[in-house]
Amino acid sequence: MINWLGQAYLWVLAAHIIFVIFWMAGLFIFPRYLVHHQEGLADPAEPPRWEAREALLRRMILTPSLIIVWLLGLALAANMGLFNGQPGLGWLHAKLLLVIILTGYHGWMVSYSRKLKARKPTLNARQLRMVNEVPAVLVTLIVILAVVKPF
Ligand code: HEM
Repeated sequence: MINWLGQAYLWVLAAHIIFVIFWMAGLFIFPRYLVHHQEGLADPAEPPRWEAREALLRRMILTPSLIIVWLLGLALAANMGLFNGQPGLGWLHAKLLLVIILTGYHGWMVSYSRKLKARKPTLNARQLRMVNEVPAVLVTLIVILAVVKPF
């Protein structure tokens, strides 16, 4: 532990967890929006409503919390000595890999919403619902790694 955060450490950790919750809320609800958006493509009144909801959710919740979680998470990682070769941080490397995949999922959601805006869906309803489960699986593994620190 480098502990460059000093007295601020627990506040940074609390803020990290708070913004993780916001980010997760967005990552769970946004793909539900995509399902409804895709189902509503046949009705001319529906798509503009979903486009507006998706844009608002991205602007107010998803993008800010993604950035803040990453910044605070990297500050905590530096505090633990990740960038100073501290041993025993295998869990953190694994967690970072899963968080990078989760960030990729975030990017995929945004790109799929652009496809729906262009009226060009590439997944069927069943595939879209299955992809919805990805964040739940990743979050489960990430929290186990962060809390249990098994290796
Ligand atoms: C974006 C990149 C992220 C980085 C670099 C990162 C880094 C860290 C670090 C180093 C800690 C340990 C703090 C400590 O014990 O001193 C931590 C704690 C934690 N992180 Fe992250 N994190 C990130 C994203 C996430 C995500 C996406 C989640 C959940 C889905 C998450 C959930 C947690 C939880 C629950 C803790 C508290 C563990 C505990 O104190 O027992 N983190 N994070």
